[in-house]
Amino acid sequence: MKRILSFLLTMAMIFSLAACGSATDSESFSSSDPGQYRAETKAENTEEAILSEGADREGKEPGTGNVLVAYFSWADNAILAEDVDAVSSPSVLPPGNVQQLAAWVREQTGGDIFSIRVTDPYPSDWDECLERANEERGENTRPELIENVANLDRYDAVFLGYPNWWYGVPMALLSFLEQNDLSGKQVYLFCSHGTGGLAGSVEQITEVAPDAVISDNIFDCYEEEAASSEEAIKAWIDGLGYGSQTDAEHGSRTEAEEEVADMSEKQISVQFGDTEVIYELNGSPAAESLYEMLPFTVEVEDYSTNEKIFYPPEELACVETPLASSDTGEGTLAYYEPWRDVVMFYAGFNENSSLYELGYAVSGIENISRMPGTITIEAIE
Ligand SMILES: Cc1cc2nc3c(=O)[nH]c(=O)nc-3n(C[C@H](O)[C@H](O)[C@H](O)COP(=O)(O)O)c2cc1C
Repeated sequence: MKRILSFLLTMAMIFSLAACGSATDSESFSSSDPGQYRAETKAENTEEAILSEGADREGKEPGTGNVLVAYFSWADNAILAEDVDAVSSPSVLPPGNVQQLAAWVREQTGGDIFSIRVTDPYPSDWDECLERANEERGENTRPELIENVANLDRYDAVFLGYPNWWYGVPMALLSFLEQNDLSGKQVYLFCSHGTGGLAGSVEQITEVAPDAVISDNIFDCYEEEAASSEEAIKAWIDGLGYGSQTDAEHGSRTEAEEEVADMSEKQISVQFGDTEVIYELNGSPAAESLYEMLPFTVEVEDYSTNEKIFYPPEELACVETPLASSDTGEGTLAYYEPWRDVVMFYAGFNENSSLYELGYAVSGIENISRMPGTITIEAIE
């Protein structure tokens, strides 16, 4: 609630400043009746957006083909300072609303997940983030992205998720659409927002991706309902014909999983003093890229009450790497892509759409929590 009030107040403040010469060309925002504003913008969307009603990609039955779940969420794009004061200044905390929705879409479709991330992350402070996003919008900026989707051609359907930022999409979503050609692909939109609803987001997307087949069946949810929307978004996916199917039926995970299964089981040793933990890698591209970097010595840090983390010398490639499952629990070796750190769990953990599985400890699990400052990691030949 505090976040909404802060948002409305900030919006009102920025827009009153905007009237005095800022670059924004937005419609005026009525904070006195946000509900009415929401209803109006939704009606506009339905009438004006150039959408393909019930359309599906030519030659493909709905619910078939390889699925990509691409999304933008503030939580994956913020500088997460440890000393953020969440009381005096509402701030971002993972999981983000869209990040959480995307994880459920991925779960239900069996698709691959891709987080749209900018090279210059946004402030974790709410007001500062609003300000920067407003500047980018006023200047029609295209923020630089860390990476684009590898092998985009292999996907038939794309579930595209985003939050409403300033009556439209975050500008990074436009960078994504301009750099990753969705022409001819079946696109399903899902969005989380405040009182503004979808606002102009669908028109913006349609304008930059005119040849994508964008379904008019859009999932959207109010920000405070996002965390409890699992059932609703999965039902939406069911309605599209993608629900409750195995990965094998969709094909997109199958290839990756086959690749993983085909690889020989590589082991690595994490050593400190005369103690070691041995991990068996899962053969995924991310695990392989870690393996290629060995050996190295690195500082290990404590994080929360269940993780030891370290930063490998280079970023790991996460495409076609499975997400870490909480079922695996302690002993899991994982990679948190937004922070680019390798995580060694010594207790249970929560799943996250940016947390990828690298492998599992097969020996010395009990030593993980005792790891001191410096560790050496080597391949076991
Ligand atoms: C920079 C910024 C601008 C926003 N602008 C709007 C807006 O114009 N209308 C609206 O309804 N919500 C707006 N919101 C609220 C977000 O759409 C909403 O909190 C969403 O659930 C956030 O999803 P996320 O946590 O995945 O980033 C804005 C949020 C931010 C951070």
